[in-house]
Amino acid sequence: MMRIDCISADIRAVKADMVVVNLFEGAKRPGGATAAVDAAIGNAIAAAVRDGDFAGKLGETLSLRPSRGLASPRVLVVGLGKKEKFTADHARQVVLPVLKEAKRFKLSTVASVVHGAGAGGVDPGTAARFCAIGAALSAFEFDRYKEEKAHRVARFLFVERDAKVFPSVRAGVSWGARVGEAINWGRSLVATPPAELRPDDLARAARGAGRGIGVSAARKVRVRVLGLADLSALKAGGILAVAKGSAAPPRLVIAEYRGGNPGSPWIALVGKGVTFDTGGISLKKWEGMEKMKYDMAGGAGMLATLRAAAALGIRRNIVAVVPCVENMLSGTAYRPGDVLRMMSGKTVEILSTDAEGRLILADAMTYAVRKYKPKEMVDAATLTGACVVALGSVNIGMMGNDEGMVSRMKAASAASGEKAWELPLHEEYFDQIKSDIGELKNIGGSEAGTITAGRFLQEFTGGTPWVHFDIAGTAWVEKEKRGYGPGPSGAPVRLLVEYLSSRDGL
Ligand code: BES
Ligand code: MN
Ligand code: ZN
Repeated sequence: MMRIDCISADIRAVKADMVVVNLFEGAKRPGGATAAVDAAIGNAIAAAVRDGDFAGKLGETLSLRPSRGLASPRVLVVGLGKKEKFTADHARQVVLPVLKEAKRFKLSTVASVVHGAGAGGVDPGTAARFCAIGAALSAFEFDRYKEEKAHRVARFLFVERDAKVFPSVRAGVSWGARVGEAINWGRSLVATPPAELRPDDLARAARGAGRGIGVSAARKVRVRVLGLADLSALKAGGILAVAKGSAAPPRLVIAEYRGGNPGSPWIALVGKGVTFDTGGISLKKWEGMEKMKYDMAGGAGMLATLRAAAALGIRRNIVAVVPCVENMLSGTAYRPGDVLRMMSGKTVEILSTDAEGRLILADAMTYAVRKYKPKEMVDAATLTGACVVALGSVNIGMMGNDEGMVSRMKAASAASGEKAWELPLHEEYFDQIKSDIGELKNIGGSEAGTITAGRFLQEFTGGTPWVHFDIAGTAWVEKEKRGYGPGPSGAPVRLLVEYLSSRDGL
């Protein structure tokens, strides 16, 4: 794993394989550390800008090999884009092309300025958080099945010259590195092939959610796993029905992190853990079905959020509840037409066995509300293809039953740079999921599919303030973009860690 840390020094004097500075698009001449480095190397950066070799577009890189002037042999200038359009999240995004260059040159140490803290106008501690998350996320490799392993950069060092801001930069780097580690832990689970991550495997991985993040953090994490017998005793009709078609029995993971005072309330994080979604009897078409291994990304994201909270020592009591099933088809599978009795007692008519996520989440939410009486509940799920149509890969689909909680989530979204957009849960949509034979049906027709799925879940909140994240469009990145390589993104961990830490001490 790449070490991410920070020192107070002049970057010109730092011995690394490469030093990284930055430049805004359209900047007449370099400023700050970039200007100091440029002067030391005979104004090669200014010359490249003047001659049009380098424009400073967001993520653009200029690689130089000056013969003298610095303690390190290489300089990489990364573009920050137009200054007026700059956001803290851009500071995270530009670390990906930096690390790609470092990997390409097979370097072992990289020393970088903190992007955005100077002319970018971002507070240095915040800029450091974003940069360190960017470094961690950019170091993620899933090459378990490759003979030839990807090059690993050993150390990524952030360099801050100003002794006054150094303490906040150091704290920010440490914060971002811890969050990034937790996100990557979850990303590996999502990337794992479905035969190797079946419900019990996911549950076993969840047992490690508190491991490797320091002893005092680990002591506050406790993970329990319920099996078939427990779920039968709990009358978890939704989880049991979806699991029926698979040879693999279901699991319900309950991971507690006690970071708050003993008497303070719980916040529940419920995540969809479908380790593979064939659609069941309502079989999906073959094209793209291989991607349905990421149907447990919500579950992995909630466990990763808990891991991050523990690693950061956030002073809250958090419980992650993750129902783990494999949605298969066989002679024992549940059918369209079946009527399920859910853990809550409500009955659900099945119209499509492919609308399985809401069924397992409903039971997990009922469980969380009954056992923990949480003050707030959040769920995350790769729930609907309709969300991909509505919001694409830019925004998480967000819905909720509590205005205050939704607006705090919006604030956390803005602060974290992880975009989420609210969709309405107006009562009119409820008509679409009323059943003739039972209380609810599990699909609401072709209109507003993301909303009717959310509205279905709302029936299982028991009035607990709740926010639902549909991450179907954001949990998996097709082509490298916005600081993510292709593969699992780790959504919505950045947003949730921000949410949880901004209300520290609750
Ligand atoms: N896991 C899928 C949703 C999904 C689709 C996630 C595409 C990511 C990409 C979910 O279980 C599902 O199959 N939903 C159905 C619901 C429908 C039957 C109402 C869908 O979206 O087609
Ligand atoms: Mn499905
Ligand atoms: Zn699914």
